[in-house]
Amino acid sequence: MPDVHEAERQITETNSPEHPVVRDLQCQLANALLAFINYKHYHWQVSGPWFRDLHLMFDEFAKEAAEALDEIAERLRMIGQDPVFLLDEVARRATIRPAAIRDDMRAMIQEADENAILLISEVRQAALNADEAEDPGTVDLLSKIVRVYEKQEWYLREVLKSPSGLLGNSRKAG
Ligand SMILES: [Fe+2]
Repeated sequence: MPDVHEAERQITETNSPEHPVVRDLQCQLANALLAFINYKHYHWQVSGPWFRDLHLMFDEFAKEAAEALDEIAERLRMIGQDPVFLLDEVARRATIRPAAIRDDMRAMIQEADENAILLISEVRQAALNADEAEDPGTVDLLSKIVRVYEKQEWYLREVLKSPSGLLGNSRKAG
């Protein structure tokens, strides 16, 4: 019969804070927290002809980011680590940009899209790293999260293709 305590020790001890999988998860937790804050900011700040659509879209994105960050944090606990939560550490580990204060709706959507593209490339790489580390649980989680970010990026890209709905409130339309 397998020694359950030995198996538990291996699962938690092979994932030290400096383990690449743990570092990736902490980084993507910080990114998901910042993405949540950014999307809420956009949700509050949008205006113009597509106000309702964009207002609701960004709230949906924020909810998805909140779900992602909770799942990443719980994954970290499963493998014996403490998820980052202090704001200065979140800011230090995050690689996406905080939302800028602006009135130009097109620039806002562009900024959201650039961050979404960065999230996708980093989560894809983190999934590959977890696969190399023979951690299928983390691969599965990150594969699920990358599909969420890919869907968000698709929506943002489509909005950027039709700029007329973004011009009405923009002080620097174009
Ligand atoms: Fe709201």
